[in-house]
Amino acid sequence: MIESVLFKGVQLLKGQDIVTGDVWIEAGKIKAVQPQLSASAEQVIHEPNLLLMPGVIDAHVHFRDPGHAHKETLYSGSRAAASGGVTTFFDMPNTNPATTTLAAMAQKKQVAAETSLVNYNFFIGATPHNLDDLCQVENVAGIKIYVGSSTGDLLVDGHEALSQIFASANKLIAVHSEDEATIRANQQQYQGSENVSDHNRVRSPEAAILCTQRLCELALAHQQRLHICHLTTQEEAEYLTQNWAQFQSVISTEVTPQHLHFVAPDLYEKWGTFGQINPPIRDQRHQDALWQALLSGVIGMIATDHAPHQVSEKALPYGQAPSGMPGVEWVLPVMLEYMNQGRMSLAQVSHWLSAGPAQTFGILNKGHIKPGYDADLVLVDLSANREVTREQCVSKCGWSPYEGLRLRGWPVATMVNGQVVYREGDFFEDIKGKEVQLSPQQMRNQVHSN
Ligand code: DOR
Ligand code: ZN
Ligand code: ZN
Repeated sequence: MIESVLFKGVQLLKGQDIVTGDVWIEAGKIKAVQPQLSASAEQVIHEPNLLLMPGVIDAHVHFRDPGHAHKETLYSGSRAAASGGVTTFFDMPNTNPATTTLAAMAQKKQVAAETSLVNYNFFIGATPHNLDDLCQVENVAGIKIYVGSSTGDLLVDGHEALSQIFASANKLIAVHSEDEATIRANQQQYQGSENVSDHNRVRSPEAAILCTQRLCELALAHQQRLHICHLTTQEEAEYLTQNWAQFQSVISTEVTPQHLHFVAPDLYEKWGTFGQINPPIRDQRHQDALWQALLSGVIGMIATDHAPHQVSEKALPYGQAPSGMPGVEWVLPVMLEYMNQGRMSLAQVSHWLSAGPAQTFGILNKGHIKPGYDADLVLVDLSANREVTREQCVSKCGWSPYEGLRLRGWPVATMVNGQVVYREGDFFEDIKGKEVQLSPQQMRNQVHSN
């Protein structure tokens, strides 16, 4: 283990500007950030052409452990994360068995401690019957409720059960927000369809807005901290924006890079069922509204919803193919490409990928390059211009929705708690991540606005 590291003459983001500076790290923490430091260190990293950013915090991944090791594991997913500059992930409970008990949570944390190369925490899944576990479990990212069913069998959509969770929860509630009754009615209508474009008619914008309104009303009535995962519709973005003054102290939301990047129907023409995810990638008007909500601050963070399935599974006909696409490896280069195109600033990229999720979830000591913060960092080559290829995929699923796309701005090296865990294709696998600590603020239902 390396005790001290000095980044010498690297590029750093200061406000809106890029400046040259030194960063000194000791015992896994950032000790000093100065234009020039004379400290000595065990490891000196002199990279005048590279930008040092806070590591990416991906608060929404499905690493499939336990139960679907052929798709991903905590180990393989954490390698994919490290290669993408992601130093912390929050993993979802729709594993097999689902993470719905104290014992299952403890087991997951143990496997992560033994195998994950980056920092981690988990959501506990809600069922209609596990309120005690939801309340008793400590130091987790939050409670995850599938209010509409998706991959796996987690679902809570009955009024009684939902109200009870909102009335009793002592921590953040994150939701997959699609109205189950609407989806089921639509499914009847499109039964037997092998046309993947029908996915957007089955999982309709109405299903999303109906459910999101219902959940926001519950959150307000109970003053319960609510995080709406992967926002997808214009209707939801406008509803949240119109009510933001009232909502922002209790409600937060996220958008995925794939919903910002792809649009239907082009997505389905190119990718067929590989483009099928829940909630779906929709048409241009929805994407425009998501960008607007992101730029206005109503959407406070980006998360990937990394949902790996094997190529052979995704290649099945519509109706049999599972929903989901991978993302943890490419979220940083995709956003840096948008920065290069002038659609967002570097400060915004960094906020939405690091400081934003840290703020949203009350993550202690992460998301910034400041003294006292954990040394979770990514060295980025902003001038690297590379095409995404299938051969380079690190995730066990072995494919990328961004294949063929040229992106400008790639991670070169990733540091977790002061240790380099990834550098230019090499992994240093004796390095292990740690359980992320959440602040009690999150428990007190506080959201900070930007
Ligand atoms: O597309 C999706 N895939 N949406 C989800 O909600 C679950 C995820 C998965 O686990 O595959
Ligand atoms: Zn979801
Ligand atoms: Zn998800």
